[in-house]
Amino acid sequence: MEQLDRALAKLEAELTVSPQVMKALAASFAAAMTAGLAGKASSLKMLPAFIGIPAGYEQGEVVAVDFGGTNVRVLLLTLAGWGRCNILVKRFFPLKDKQKQYDYTAATASGSQLFDYIAEKIAEIIPRGEHIYPLGYTFSYPCRQYAVAEAELISWTKEIKTAGVEGQNVGQLLQAALERNGIGNVRLAAVINDTTGTLLTAAYCDAAADIGAICGTGHNSCYLEPVHPLTKQPMIVNLESGNFAAVSQTRYDAWLDKASEKPGTQRLEKMAAGQYLGELVRIIISDLAADGLLTVSAADSLQVPYVLSSEDLSAILADSTAGLRSVADTAAVRLGLCSLKVEELAALQQLTRLVVDRSARLVAATWAGVLYKIDPELTRQHTIAVDGSLYEKMPGYAAGLAQAMEDVLGPGAGKIALRLSKDGSGIGAAIAAATVQAADGKA
Ligand code: GLC
Repeated sequence: MEQLDRALAKLEAELTVSPQVMKALAASFAAAMTAGLAGKASSLKMLPAFIGIPAGYEQGEVVAVDFGGTNVRVLLLTLAGWGRCNILVKRFFPLKDKQKQYDYTAATASGSQLFDYIAEKIAEIIPRGEHIYPLGYTFSYPCRQYAVAEAELISWTKEIKTAGVEGQNVGQLLQAALERNGIGNVRLAAVINDTTGTLLTAAYCDAAADIGAICGTGHNSCYLEPVHPLTKQPMIVNLESGNFAAVSQTRYDAWLDKASEKPGTQRLEKMAAGQYLGELVRIIISDLAADGLLTVSAADSLQVPYVLSSEDLSAILADSTAGLRSVADTAAVRLGLCSLKVEELAALQQLTRLVVDRSARLVAATWAGVLYKIDPELTRQHTIAVDGSLYEKMPGYAAGLAQAMEDVLGPGAGKIALRLSKDGSGIGAAIAAATVQAADGKA
């Protein structure tokens, strides 16, 4: 066990992000924002959203589609102004289903199959007839926008591979699918990123909200640029911060990256997002096993990539039983490690904690970077609106973020509120659509 303890101490040293490191990361994040905004080389794409913060009075009955993970969500909702919103229908549809033998996220699926599927699902909940529903569409991948409803997919992230969508106008693809499927009474009004949706939802009722983020399957943030160079008006900017590159990788991160769909990209996301945290933990455990530090039995599944999910990590961290029953079950069922001693289970729990805490501290450092850029002296209140499974469900994650904000900002952190923007990515699409309608004088 002594050797395992030593290995853990080494891991702790490698994975801990100190306040000093966070401050340096925040400074380089702010510099990357400035460069990206000025069109200079930067790992931050700084994508303009062509939308600002809602005025609060936006109202109406709106359809929202939220596409960004393994499910697509379709909502029909009524906005009543000033944060009031009534969800009339909300349905989830999986984009892949082994039993039904489909996977619209695979390279074998085409864009039109994917968008026809989404259109069919919209058809299932929207009444047909004369009434025209504006559609807000959350599409949570890096898009070059030319207007609020014109968004071109730059490249897939989060290991999605559907063919023929990169470089295409994803709004047009959905609108065309709606028409192919005979849904003439739903009209695209806005395409937004999920971070934008999260921010819009919070800003609908909170005037201090100016940063939005997703800590879920993927990781990304956006913020309100007070004077955007393109319009000289306030505009939300999608940072695509998952691609932030000035984070130093351990050898485990480098291994994960090398085996990923797009090596060299999304460096921060591969260290911070739910899609990858389980895989990082698996890689570290298999390294410990290869060094003979764990009691390995028939450990075949230990070598299977992505066999550990972030839900498994949640179960590991939530376990406070004396014998660490959930850790033991997860290790046995997922990794084939059936005869671990309780000390080894404790080590697995501890290294999971290290990987999850590092994610929260890296993310907090980037938010501090945004604050360094928009309000370096912290002269006013800021709300950071967050949605996503890690923030909502991973034990200790939200608390870790709050602690990390204090560590990086010091007493100034008192000006910063973190706020769960529940279902923000979907509701935000509706707010975006209603904002566009209001601006067009139709609402
Ligand atoms: C990935 C996408 C980004 C999205 C994030 C959260 O990082 O590139 O657009 O906001 O995931 O879903």
